[in-house]
Amino acid sequence: MITKNIAILTSGGDSPGMNSSIFGAFTACQNNELHLWGILNGYDGLIDNKFIEIDYQLLAGRINRGGSILKSGRSKRFLKSNHFKTAISNLKKNQIDALIIVGGDGSLKGAMKLRDNGIKVICLPGTIDNDLDFTYTIGFDTATNNIVNAIDNITDSLSSFGYGAVIKIMGNQCTDLIDTVADAIHTNLLVKSKDFDINSLVKSIKTRYDGNHLPPIVLVLEESANIEDLCTVLQEKCKIQFRPHILGYIQRGGTPSAFDRRYGFTAGKSAVESILRKKYNCAIGLIGDRLSSKEIENCFKF
Ligand code: F6P
Repeated sequence: MITKNIAILTSGGDSPGMNSSIFGAFTACQNNELHLWGILNGYDGLIDNKFIEIDYQLLAGRINRGGSILKSGRSKRFLKSNHFKTAISNLKKNQIDALIIVGGDGSLKGAMKLRDNGIKVICLPGTIDNDLDFTYTIGFDTATNNIVNAIDNITDSLSSFGYGAVIKIMGNQCTDLIDTVADAIHTNLLVKSKDFDINSLVKSIKTRYDGNHLPPIVLVLEESANIEDLCTVLQEKCKIQFRPHILGYIQRGGTPSAFDRRYGFTAGKSAVESILRKKYNCAIGLIGDRLSSKEIENCFKF
């Protein structure tokens, strides 16, 4: 069978570099006279038959922006068998020969379901969480830098007033973001699970903070603690004012780093080239500094 039509979708939390993946896939399709179809809104678009042909006009001015030009989603409907069947029949109706899925662990699970029902898939690891078993996922580098830059800004104000901060960091159940940021901002004040030891946190703050150097910055992974309550407790015990900060989508959005653009682009291109070599039903991502493919089953860290 000759490959003519490839489709691509982005799913789950958007990650900076997803657009570069789309551009990489588009470039390889152009080089090989293939059509690249974008599916809008993640797996929901498969169900709703939202297929659009990707061309230069769609990409113009948006390739190096964050977010996803195809939009994303966490589709609950895709898990229901009637909607799943519709998704499969839409792929067939649109004569899609293979589907590229850019997303995190939930998206890869969806990809396995499609594969098990005869659809040819290739996954690219797109998530800021770094919770897939590649050296990095697309978007992790940018998110790390976004967080460090935001904390640098916060630090200027904290230092002027002698305050500390408690800052909530994304990552879902994966600690890679919070650990990498902690190293980069030189803090060892981390709350990564609900059963953290408040006394040892207070002790570390008291030992380390002398009022002259870096302010005490406590990083909290997602829902491990209520950051307002934690500020109140630390204020009482350490006699320093603590300010809560939720960085939210400042972490996930924004211009992708050079690393994530290159990673996204080369992975997208490689996905199409792999399909042309008739190698599909795998995931392609960085292992060390090389793009490698592995079984989708072997990509999960949790
Ligand atoms: O998967 C990326 C991520 O940003 C996680 O770090 C976080 O747990 C989740 O998405 C937040 O999801 P939402 O899009 O619902 O805010």
